Amino acid sequence: MLIQKAIFPVAGLGTRFLPATKAQPKEMLPVVDKPLIQYAVEEAYAAGVREMIFVTGRHKRPIEDHFDMTFELEVALEQAGKEELLGVVRSVKPDDMECIYVRQAQALGLGHAVLCAQRLTGNEPFAVLLADDLMVGTPPVLAQMVEQFKEWRASIIAVQEVPPEHTRRYGIVAGHAVNERMMDVQRIVEKPAPEAAPSRLGVAGRYILTPGVFHEISNQPRGVGGEIQLTDGIAGLLRREKVFAYRYEGRRYDCGSKEGFLQANVELTLEHPVLGAGFRDYLKDLPL
Ligand code: G1P
Repeated sequence: MLIQKAIFPVAGLGTRFLPATKAQPKEMLPVVDKPLIQYAVEEAYAAGVREMIFVTGRHKRPIEDHFDMTFELEVALEQAGKEELLGVVRSVKPDDMECIYVRQAQALGLGHAVLCAQRLTGNEPFAVLLADDLMVGTPPVLAQMVEQFKEWRASIIAVQEVPPEHTRRYGIVAGHAVNERMMDVQRIVEKPAPEAAPSRLGVAGRYILTPGVFHEISNQPRGVGGEIQLTDGIAGLLRREKVFAYRYEGRRYDCGSKEGFLQANVELTLEHPVLGAGFRDYLKDLPL
């Protein structure tokens, strides 16, 4: 496979989701019955990635535990003959998947988090997935991007159109269209005001990056919010290499916000093979 490694920056404090995130990682909040981080890991796995690199921080132990073997639970389920549940538990970490953890001692920003994984990715292109962006697509969004990477052999950033009043929430890209979905990026700016935004194409939390980006990140001064920004590293990379923006096919839920998280729960429950029909009836009967 072309993209073997993925970085999951999970050291953030999750302040947008307090009080739920006071003592637990935001990445462990469940949508229907799976924690957010598991959706992102499954998406990476479906794209052929087998080495999952988590950039963690204090209070993030539950993430490590989730992808570890839960021996007592497995024995208990086995003895109780609960084969189906045993399968669910074991499928969280398939045997051919490796999980690696590196600590980001200080929350200095997304660019800094990615830089913490530099030694683990070596000289290969890699993926970055932000777990609070829950992406739903067929094929999954990162798999779509890996397909594009095979053709273009350059960094690719997932983008979508955002309302003008939301440009302050995203990295915004501008450039020349090379086909319906791909754009040759000329500019990328982190969280511009609407009047300064070069376009309305906002970066979603999925990236395939070439290793050249590490050098660029380490040469960047602090950016928006006093943080070392991944966007600024990519802006540096642009001067040396091609970078493409890819309009993905699918939906994104901003599960770092309470609203997006609730929408994801409602919509994914409605699509759930077991819960969906009953939940639809329940919603219909609500006195709205
Ligand atoms: C980060 C990136 C931003 C991107 C966004 C997508 O921002 O810095 O460029 O558009 O993720 O979710 P954050 O949401 O972490 O502030």
